[in-house]
Amino acid sequence: MALREILHYPDPRLRTKAKPVVAVDEVIRTLVDDMFETMYAAPGIGLAATQINVHQRVIVVDVSRDQDQPLCLINPEIVSTEGSESTEEGCLSVPDVFETVNRAEAIRVRALDRNGALKEFDATGLMAVCIQHEMDHLEGKLFVDRLSELKRLRIRKKFDKLQRRAV
Ligand code: NI
Repeated sequence: MALREILHYPDPRLRTKAKPVVAVDEVIRTLVDDMFETMYAAPGIGLAATQINVHQRVIVVDVSRDQDQPLCLINPEIVSTEGSESTEEGCLSVPDVFETVNRAEAIRVRALDRNGALKEFDATGLMAVCIQHEMDHLEGKLFVDRLSELKRLRIRKKFDKLQRRAV
């Protein structure tokens, strides 16, 4: 296993649309293992392959308090949604920014697991939020895109300033 570098906003590579995984093989399983290690080390509750510059449709999630319920979703699809809810979100690619985002309250998800088996299940609460957030990454979208223009501009300015300071 290996820790992978997490891309930070406004890195344009975060805007890449991920491609479907063709075969769940050892390469994908190694990617999944690395993603879990990187997510737990951060620490975070979700990570999309896009965030480590791998543009394949893979996400990992663990919203349990003890971080002992790893869930890996390959080629995830949202089959249906219900209701809407606003939750404060953060993102490992947008450090130190927490903003309220509106998303579906309950979702039905279809995805392959790490053995390539097709699973379908319902998610609510933090799990539903997290899966929707990570699936946005696979489309090249970030949670800041869902905020008002004013908030987005303020965040963009902050990160541009940080970047200038780092150069
Ligand atoms: Ni994120």
